[in-house]
Amino acid sequence: MTTSTGPLLFQPLTLRQTTFRNRIWVAPMCQYSVPEQNGIPTDWHLVHLGARAQGGFGLVLTEATAVVPEGRISPQDTGLWNDEQTQAWSRITAFIAGQGARSGVQLAHAGRKASTHRGFPGEPTGPAPASDGGWEPVGPSPVAFTGLVTPHEMSAADLDDTVEAFAAATRRALTAGFDVVELHAAHGYLLHQFLSPLSNTRTDAHGGDFDGRVAFPLRVVDAVRDAWPSDRPLFVRLSATDWAPGGWDLEQTVRLSRLLREHGVDLVDVSSGGNVRADIPVGPGYQVPFSAGVRSGAGIATGAVGLITEPDQAEQVLANGEADAVLLARAALREPAWPLRAASELGLTWREAPYPPAYVRGRWDDAPTRARP
Ligand SMILES: Cc1cc2nc3c(=O)[nH]c(=O)nc-3n(C[C@H](O)[C@H](O)[C@H](O)COP(=O)(O)O)c2cc1C
Repeated sequence: MTTSTGPLLFQPLTLRQTTFRNRIWVAPMCQYSVPEQNGIPTDWHLVHLGARAQGGFGLVLTEATAVVPEGRISPQDTGLWNDEQTQAWSRITAFIAGQGARSGVQLAHAGRKASTHRGFPGEPTGPAPASDGGWEPVGPSPVAFTGLVTPHEMSAADLDDTVEAFAAATRRALTAGFDVVELHAAHGYLLHQFLSPLSNTRTDAHGGDFDGRVAFPLRVVDAVRDAWPSDRPLFVRLSATDWAPGGWDLEQTVRLSRLLREHGVDLVDVSSGGNVRADIPVGPGYQVPFSAGVRSGAGIATGAVGLITEPDQAEQVLANGEADAVLLARAALREPAWPLRAASELGLTWREAPYPPAYVRGRWDDAPTRARP
C-alpha cells in the first residue's frame, strides 16, 4: 500500500534530532565472529554491517554488545568496555554513516545466559567451560535457565557496578560515533531476567512486585540516558511476553513502556520470549500485535520485529499503525539489499531509492534486459 507521498517504509523518521532515511532497520544479530575472544569487532563486522548500510537500510543495529566481559553470551561476542573496541567500532560507524544509514549499538549483559558456546553448525552447544574461554555467570537470583549453569546472585555492589558499566559503554558508544543506543532487555538476558518473576526471586528492593522487578532496568535506563546526548535516541528492546504462565506479559510490558517513555526512552523494539523454554506460536508477523499494543497502550514509538519478510507485509504494518519502523533479521541475512528490492516492489523509481551510486547499474527497476559492457 502506498500513500500520495509514497510508501510509508521510505518516509524518513525523526526521533529527537536524529533522522532515519527510512523505516526499514537491521535487527540486532549476534555474529559470534570474534575469534580472538577479546570483544573487538573484526573485518567480519565491518563487511556484514557495512553491506546492509549499502543495501539501503535506514538503521543498522549491531549485535548484542557486552558492557563487561562476563556479560557476553559467548566468548566470541563483541564488547564495548575498552578503548580498542571503541576504536574498532569507530571504523564501522564511519562506514555506515558514509552510506547514509544510521548506526546503533545494542548494549547487553547476558546474565544467567552468559558463557555459552556459540553453537555454530558442528560445534558444541550449552555452557562453555573455562578451557573454551567460559566463566561463571551472574544473575538476579540463583535460578538457572534450563540446561545452563546456576548463576551467582548479584550483590548490591554488583548491581551498582553493572549500572556504571552500562553508562561507561554508552560514553564509549558516543566516542565510537553511534547514532542510537538500544538496551537489550529482551530474550532472557540480564535486564529481562530482572523483569520476570520466573527468573527474579529476590526479596530486596530489586525483586518482588512489578515496581521491584523494574527497578534495576530503570536504574540502567536512567544512567544510560544521562550519559547519552539529548539529541540522540535511546531504544529499549523488550520481550512482550515470556509465553509462560506466571511470567512477564503484555500488560506489564505496556506498563513498563509508559515508565520508559517518562524516563527518556524514545522507542521500544518489541520482541518476545527467551527467558524460559516455551512453545511460541511462530508465524508471519507474530509479534506485530505486541508492538501495536505497546504503541497504543503506552504512547511510545515502536519497532516491530519477527517474521516480517515481504515488502507489502512490512508496509501494511506501518499503514495499520502497528509500528513506526520494522526490523528485519533473517531476511536481512538472506538479502543484504532488501530495501532496494522493496523500493522497486512498492513503486519507487531507483532515483527515489537509497542506491549507492556504484550499485545503480544493478537496479531492480531496470532489470538487465540489454547488454551492458
Ligand atoms: C543470527 C541471529 C542472531 C541474533 N542475535 C540477536 C541479538 O544479538 N540481539 C537481539 O536482540 N536479537 C537477536 N536475534 C533476534 C533477531 O533480532 C530477531 O528479533 C528475530 O530473529 C526475529 O526476527 P526475524 O524473523 O526477522 O529473523 C538474532 C537472530 C538471529 C537470526
